[in-house]
Amino acid sequence: MSTTQKTLSAANAGTVTLGDLTVNRLGFGAMRITGEGIWGEPKDVAEAKRVLLRAVELDVNLIDTADSYGPEVSERLIGETLWPYKPGLVIATKGGYVRTGPNQWKPNLQPEHLREALEGSLRRLKLDRIDVYQLHNAADPTVKLADAIGTLAAMQREGKIRHIGVSNFTVAQLSEARSIVNVVSVQNRYNLADRASEAVLEECERLDIPFLPWAPLGGNNRQATDALENVAKRHGATTGQITIAALLARSPMMLPIPGTSRVAHLEENIAAAGIELTDEDKRELSLTSSH
Ligand SMILES: NC(=O)c1ccc[n+]([C@@H]2O[C@H](COP(=O)([O-])OP(=O)(O)OC[C@H]3O[C@@H](n4cnc5c(N)ncnc54)[C@H](OP(=O)(O)O)[C@@H]3O)[C@@H](O)[C@H]2O)c1
Repeated sequence: MSTTQKTLSAANAGTVTLGDLTVNRLGFGAMRITGEGIWGEPKDVAEAKRVLLRAVELDVNLIDTADSYGPEVSERLIGETLWPYKPGLVIATKGGYVRTGPNQWKPNLQPEHLREALEGSLRRLKLDRIDVYQLHNAADPTVKLADAIGTLAAMQREGKIRHIGVSNFTVAQLSEARSIVNVVSVQNRYNLADRASEAVLEECERLDIPFLPWAPLGGNNRQATDALENVAKRHGATTGQITIAALLARSPMMLPIPGTSRVAHLEENIAAAGIELTDEDKRELSLTSSH
């Protein structure tokens, strides 16, 4: 099978640059190393820690997390397991949600909340400065977006944030944020079945800003289409691997962050970085920007 011809490494995906940080173009989403409903401890803490260690061993050098995953659990496990961090490892965390229970997410972009959230992330991740701090949403009706971005800008001036990213933003919101700060990354939901953020991806391509598709595998609704099954068969790969390869092929700005709680799944996902799709594959998967 094509994936076994290359060393298992996230480096096979090539690289992308966030500000002055160059990372391999396949990252790890650490939302899944928590309990059911992204709430509390993971079922198997030892396996969750092995996933983190194996990700770094396989050259993943961008780990996405948030204070709200658990809450606190994902960041705490990262700090406990990976600190002191391997040089070049970028932890991209986020703030802007509070949690009230499993599967419940409440936007909070109040300056005091963002400040408290950042301090908690620094503590749990054992860092003096966050390499990439992402505003998790633009959806708090009680706070003007400019004020939320302004709070991040102030914390950046204080030396607590190296680079600012945004998540769940429209093109217009991205443009507003960029009028205030330098935005180094955009993270929106995007996968083969949900291309609602296609215009945001295209804007990122125009601006040379990495786009981190969340739920790249479809999240909790993983579905294999006939096209995916056909291409997977041709490559001797799984449909999930072809999904990741397809996202990587869609744009050089694409930095997928598939999430998993299992080492076997992580290894399968990383192997996808070594799959090169043919033109026939891309046609069959409708890999054009017009979808
Ligand atoms: N910015 C935002 O608002 C936002 C929202 C959601 C997520 N995110 C970020 O994006 C990351 C990715 O999104 P996601 O985790 O929701 O979705 P995803 O990566 O599309 O899919 C994760 C799901 O697929 C399963 N899975 C992963 N690899 C697999 C494999 N090789 N074979 C079979 N099943 C597999 C996982 O279960 P197992 O644990 O059993 O492998 C998990 O249920 C998150 O971890 C998080 O960092 C951001």
